[in-house]
Amino acid sequence: MSVTVTSPAKVNLSLSVGPLRADGYHDIATVFHALSLHDTVTVSESDEPGISIDMRVLGVVPVDQDNLAMRAVRALAHHVNRPGNVHVNIIKRIPVAAGLAGGSADAAGALVACNELWQTGLSMSELTDMAATLGSDVAFALRGGTMVGTGRGERLAPVLAATFAPLNWVIAASGAGLSTPEVYRTLDEIREQSGIDADEPEVSIEMMLALRSGVVDDIAAALENDLQKAALKMRPSLARTLQAGIDAGAVGAIVSGSGPSCVFLARDADHSVDLAVELSASGTCDTILRATGPAAGVQLV
Ligand code: C5P
Repeated sequence: MSVTVTSPAKVNLSLSVGPLRADGYHDIATVFHALSLHDTVTVSESDEPGISIDMRVLGVVPVDQDNLAMRAVRALAHHVNRPGNVHVNIIKRIPVAAGLAGGSADAAGALVACNELWQTGLSMSELTDMAATLGSDVAFALRGGTMVGTGRGERLAPVLAATFAPLNWVIAASGAGLSTPEVYRTLDEIREQSGIDADEPEVSIEMMLALRSGVVDDIAAALENDLQKAALKMRPSLARTLQAGIDAGAVGAIVSGSGPSCVFLARDADHSVDLAVELSASGTCDTILRATGPAAGVQLV
């Protein structure tokens, strides 16, 4: 008996970061946007005790007790009082440590797949609560679509988005990841050094209006990410990647989440193919991927 699910990558269409909290996190206000780029997670009952995991990956993932998918299986097993002897197989397409929430996607996928495997009867809302305890982006990977995230990102509310044609994205990924805690820490340092107090985080009116209209140019103009300056400080070459996308005709260009992936908004599907080719030729990034959004959250296959 096994269960297979797909689980999406995300970009943040906007990411506003507040001051450092006492618990080491930052309050944020973000617009999460799920992408068609996804990992595939299969869980099956195992005769061996404990959880084993097997990944086919592009980069390096820590396959140890701290692996987020393993933590998800363990949390659910504990919650429903099962031994949790499970094998998890993950086919990774989402680049690792890339600012695309690939680890969170795997955790959300493992949660839904085990929930189905064990027929626990837990609701989506109960699973979302459990996801929120595992990491700031896990609840969103479960739900997908386009949503506003507040708190540390785990409190979700749907966006009143227009029903518009899918957005077409080109993703420029880098072989070497960036550590999310370090990127947040670098932002705190930049603010401290320049004497800037962080404001309460908010999603701009421009972004909310753009999402309601669905006009690609308006969405592109409203893209913003407070973590971008920190990611650029840690990886200055990202400025060249962003510029290469703009020079190639991207309507919008932004670092995704804590980076180092840069994402580019194309006018339509044909334009995204041209953009991907030009970016590839620019030699400013390691891997080019194309994706559309918004995509669904975790889906049973
Ligand atoms: O929640 P998650 O495990 O994904 O967060 C990883 C790290 O990123 C946290 O330990 C924290 O340093 C930083 N973070 C933050 N504020 C957030 C989300 C993450 O400071 N809202």
